[in-house]
Amino acid sequence: MSAQTQVMTPQACTDLAYAILRRNDRGGYTVPNHSVYPFQWNWDSAFVAMGFATFDRARAWQELETLFLGQWPDGMVPSIVFHAPADHYYPGPSAWGTRHQPPTTGITQPPVAATAARMIVEAEPDRQTALAALSRVFDPIFASHHWWHTVRDPDGSGLVTVVHPWETGRDNSPDWDGPLSAIVPTVDVSALRKDNKVVDPSERPTDLFYNRVMTLVEEAKALHWDGLSVARRLSMRVCDLGIQCILLRADHDLLALAELSGREAEAQQLRDWIERSTKAFARLKAADGTFRSLDLVTGQLAPCVTSASFLPLYARVASPQEAETLIALMAAWQDDTPFMVPSSDPRHDSYDARRYWRGPVWIVVNRMIADGLAHYGFADTAERLRQTSAASIMTHGFREAFDPRNGDGLGGRDFSWTAAMWLEWAGQPARTDTAGLARLT
Ligand code: GLC
Repeated sequence: MSAQTQVMTPQACTDLAYAILRRNDRGGYTVPNHSVYPFQWNWDSAFVAMGFATFDRARAWQELETLFLGQWPDGMVPSIVFHAPADHYYPGPSAWGTRHQPPTTGITQPPVAATAARMIVEAEPDRQTALAALSRVFDPIFASHHWWHTVRDPDGSGLVTVVHPWETGRDNSPDWDGPLSAIVPTVDVSALRKDNKVVDPSERPTDLFYNRVMTLVEEAKALHWDGLSVARRLSMRVCDLGIQCILLRADHDLLALAELSGREAEAQQLRDWIERSTKAFARLKAADGTFRSLDLVTGQLAPCVTSASFLPLYARVASPQEAETLIALMAAWQDDTPFMVPSSDPRHDSYDARRYWRGPVWIVVNRMIADGLAHYGFADTAERLRQTSAASIMTHGFREAFDPRNGDGLGGRDFSWTAAMWLEWAGQPARTDTAGLARLT
């Protein structure tokens, strides 16, 4: 069990959540956690902006604007923006060898910014103020969606390509075991790692994993980080179900914002992208009725269900029957993993309750799944998910992830996005079905 002994009251959690966001604020952007992740991370910041939107909308907009300072000329929003140096993280700017200022990685992360922007707009009572703030981020966000639908879908298939496990945000998921197994490491970075010195190594990815993923970085460096070459030629090319769903949802949110601000040309483009990706989901469906990630190199669907398999609910792309299949699956998992939703199928060989993305629960993923459940009419299941998420936090603090068997805290402490999701969702019982992410119809 983790060190936290006393169960916090909801009010104490709320106070601590504010304190964590304040402490992790580096002046316009928020680090996910000081000791493990000392820079600005892409999807972390979008979720953090949702948390800020509950009490400081100006700061919420600023979080997104600062993230987009890292945007590349072709529209890509990098996974990390290295605004200020910090020597306790590997791989830092020199390992990536990119040319942007401020320095960034050369890969991206799940596109949550449009969904966050929509939430901030909806939290703003004054429409003119909301539209003025939106006008500052709309074009950069649209450019990032354009990048996904063109550079990362070069053949217009409706399925977007990811080229590195860290792009998916679900870094160490069994979804990437197959694609990575074909990669023969050309580097050995085991001595350079810092993550496994600050967090229990049994909860972190292995050295072999790090050597493989840094080999992908070397491949991209050899292509001078040219977007289309990377998308077509890296050894790992997969359609990540998580990103495919998060992008489709973000397209819907950006469409709502385009309509609100009278951007008809962009709205039409978004409708076309939405139609194309929605149709392409058929290629991600496995024989058991669940959706999976797809290895674009081998044509194989991922062998097991992961927490991403529930995100078609969040994307509104599941049929009622597919939604029922997912509910039945959750019910089947409930006994082994009462603190839902494990990041990977607890009955599959690759499951590991405490190792990154192979079992542990992330509150941001729960937030998206709960939103989808509520939309499909499963309000009770959504509420149960909120309650187990809240119980884990009240008992173990604002940890990076939680053990699905007992809610025990895992990974780093005082995590910004866990604090933000407490403020926006887990600590807000009355809001589950009516506010925030769940408002999209
Ligand atoms: C880990 C997670 C990733 C997250 C980052 C910062 O790398 O896998 O999703 O963005 O930590 O919290």
